[in-house]
Amino acid sequence: MAEQRFCKAKVGGSTPLSGFMNSSDIRKKFLDFFKTKDHSIIPSASLVPSETDPTVLFTTAGMQPLVPYLLGADHPGGRRVANVQKCVRTVDIEEVGDPRHLTFFEMMGNWSFGDPNSHDGIGSGYFKKEAIEWSWEFLTDKKWLGLDKSRLAVSVFAGDDDAPFDEEAFNAWRKLGVAENRIARLPKKNNWWGPAGVTGPCGPDTEIFYWTGEPNETPESFNDDNDLWVEIWNNVFMQYNKGLDGKYYPLAQKNVDTGMGLERMAMVMQEKDNVYETDLFVPILEKLKAQSLPTACLSGRQRQAGSKLKTTAKNLKLEEKERAERIIADHIKASVLIIGDEVAPSNVGRGYILRRLIRRAVRYGRVLGIEGLFLSEIALPVFEIYKEFYPEFLQKKDMILGVIQEEETKFNKTLEKGLREFKKIVSRAGEEMISGKDAFILFSTFGFPVEITLEMAKEQGIKVNKTEFDKEFEDHQKISRTAAAGMFKGGLADAEEKTVKYHTATHLLHQALKLVLGESVAQKGSNINSERLRFDFSYPEKVTKEQIEKVEGLVNERIKENLPVSWTEMDLEEARKSGAIGLFGHKYEDKVKVYTIGEADKFFSKEICMGPHVPSTGQLGRFKIVKEEAVSAGIRRIKAILE
Ligand code: SER
Repeated sequence: MAEQRFCKAKVGGSTPLSGFMNSSDIRKKFLDFFKTKDHSIIPSASLVPSETDPTVLFTTAGMQPLVPYLLGADHPGGRRVANVQKCVRTVDIEEVGDPRHLTFFEMMGNWSFGDPNSHDGIGSGYFKKEAIEWSWEFLTDKKWLGLDKSRLAVSVFAGDDDAPFDEEAFNAWRKLGVAENRIARLPKKNNWWGPAGVTGPCGPDTEIFYWTGEPNETPESFNDDNDLWVEIWNNVFMQYNKGLDGKYYPLAQKNVDTGMGLERMAMVMQEKDNVYETDLFVPILEKLKAQSLPTACLSGRQRQAGSKLKTTAKNLKLEEKERAERIIADHIKASVLIIGDEVAPSNVGRGYILRRLIRRAVRYGRVLGIEGLFLSEIALPVFEIYKEFYPEFLQKKDMILGVIQEEETKFNKTLEKGLREFKKIVSRAGEEMISGKDAFILFSTFGFPVEITLEMAKEQGIKVNKTEFDKEFEDHQKISRTAAAGMFKGGLADAEEKTVKYHTATHLLHQALKLVLGESVAQKGSNINSERLRFDFSYPEKVTKEQIEKVEGLVNERIKENLPVSWTEMDLEEARKSGAIGLFGHKYEDKVKVYTIGEADKFFSKEICMGPHVPSTGQLGRFKIVKEEAVSAGIRRIKAILE
C-alpha cells in the first residue's frame, strides 16, 4: 500500500517548472505566430495519403500532402501556409523506446510556395532570409517560445559538386547574431532534404539545435556529434528538382518547407530529457503503470537513481522494463490515431503496420507481466491528450476502442500457444537459424507478424531465415489467390440465376451506400446465397431508417431504369483512374475486369469484379433491406433480399 501511494504521488505530481509550456500552448503559439506573418492555417491532412500518392503508406512529413503545391499548383490558401500535421514513420520502429524516437508524432510546419519575386495576386512567397529570421524570432522572442539564444546552434549545407555552399543561409544566421562557431557547415548527408522519392523537389536545409544539457555547460562551439544538442527545427530550401538522370536542376518555383517536431519541442519547453516525460505521454504511462503495479511502478528517474545501487543485471532489467512501457505507450497512441483515420488491422499494407503495432504492444504487455486485455484501457488517455486539437477524432472513440479490443482479443487467443511454440522452435533450431517455414507457422497459425518473430529471435541471440519466410509467404499468397478465384468462379457457376442477381444487386447497394452515407464507406465483406445477400462495410454508426429507405429507393430506381450491365478488361491503374471502386488494397493480377452498370459516359456503378452479372438491372425484381446491424466496431452489416 505504502508503495502504491508513493508511486502515485511521484507519477502524477511533477511540479511545473518556471518555463513549463504545455503542448497545446506550443501548437497554438506556432500557428498564431505564422498568422502574424500572413500565413493561412490549414488543417492536418489524414495519416492516410491521398490516392494520388502511392509512394508511401502513411503521411510521414508535413510537406507530403503539399507536394502538388511545391511543384507549382495554386494552393487555395495562397502562397504562405502553416499547420500541425499528424505523421507516422515506421522506419525507426526499432529505436522506439530511446529518448526521442516515435512512430506517431506531430510536425509543425510553415511553407512558402514560391520565392519573394513570385507575386500573382494571392500573396507573395518568401525564401531563406525571411524563413530564418522568423524561425529565430519564434524560438527566442519572449512573446513566443523565449528560448535562451546561448543554447541554440545551427547547421548549413557545406556545398559539393551538385550545389554550392549555402552562403545565403549562413549570412542570414550571422546577421541575427549567431556566432560563427555555432554554425556548422555539413555535407549532403546532414543538410540536404529530399526528394521524398527517387525524383522530385529537394534542396539544402538549415537545422536548428538546442542544448539540452546543463545550461552552464553549453559548449562554445557547436558539434553535432554530441547527443545533448537536439535538432528541433529543419528549414528546407527547395530550389532543385532531382531528375531521373540523378542530376539536380534549379526549380522554377523556389519553396520553403519547414518541420518542427511537437514532441521534441515539448521536451525542450518542459525541461525533460526525453519525450516520454512530456504531457504528450505522461497520462498514458501513468495508466500503464497503474495496470502493472507494483513491479513496474517506479518512474524512469527513480529507477535510474535506484539502479545505481543495484547489480548490473538488475539495472538492465529495469531499463528493459522502461523500454517496454515506452514501446506500449508509443504503439497504442499511433494505433489509436491510425484507426481514427479509418485503417483497420489486416495482413496487407497499412493494415499490416497497424496490426504489427497492436500486436507488438500486446507482447510487450506480457513482458511487463500484464495478463488479459489491457490496451483499450491504456488507449483512453490518448483521447484526452488529443481531443482539443483533433475534435473529430473523439467522435470515433467507440469505434477505435472496439477495433483495438477486437485485434487484441484475436492475438491473445493465440499468443500463449505461439510463445510456447516459439520456445520449441528455438530449442529445435539449436545453433542454427529459425527456418522460414517455422517463422511462417508462427505467422499463419499463431498470428505473429514476422517482425515480432525476428525481434524475439534477436533477444535469444538467434537468426531467422527471412528469405525462406518470404518465399513461403509468396507461395501461400499464390495458393490462396487461386483458391479464392476458384471458389468464386465455381460457386457462382453452379449457382442458380438468383445468386447472379444478388451479385448485381450487391454492386447497386455498394454504390447507393456511398451516395447516401458518404465516400468513406468501403466494402469489408460480401456473402451471397440464393436466399439473400449480405454486405459488410465500414461506417462508424447505426444507419438510420431514413438512410435505409434512401438506399433502397436508389437501388430500386436503378432497377426500374433497366440499366445495361457491361464489362471490360483493363489494367489496375486504368481501372482506378476510370473511377472504378474495388478492394484496391489487395493484390490483383495485372489485368482486372471492370463491371459498369449504366451507360459508359453516365454510369451508376463501376466496380472491379470477376462477375458474372445479369445483362441488365430490370431482371432483379424489388430490392429490400431486411436487416442492418453492427458486426464489430466501425463495421456494419446489411442483409437484403430481392422480391
Ligand atoms: N520535410 C522536412 C522534414 O521532414 C521539413 O519539413 O524534416
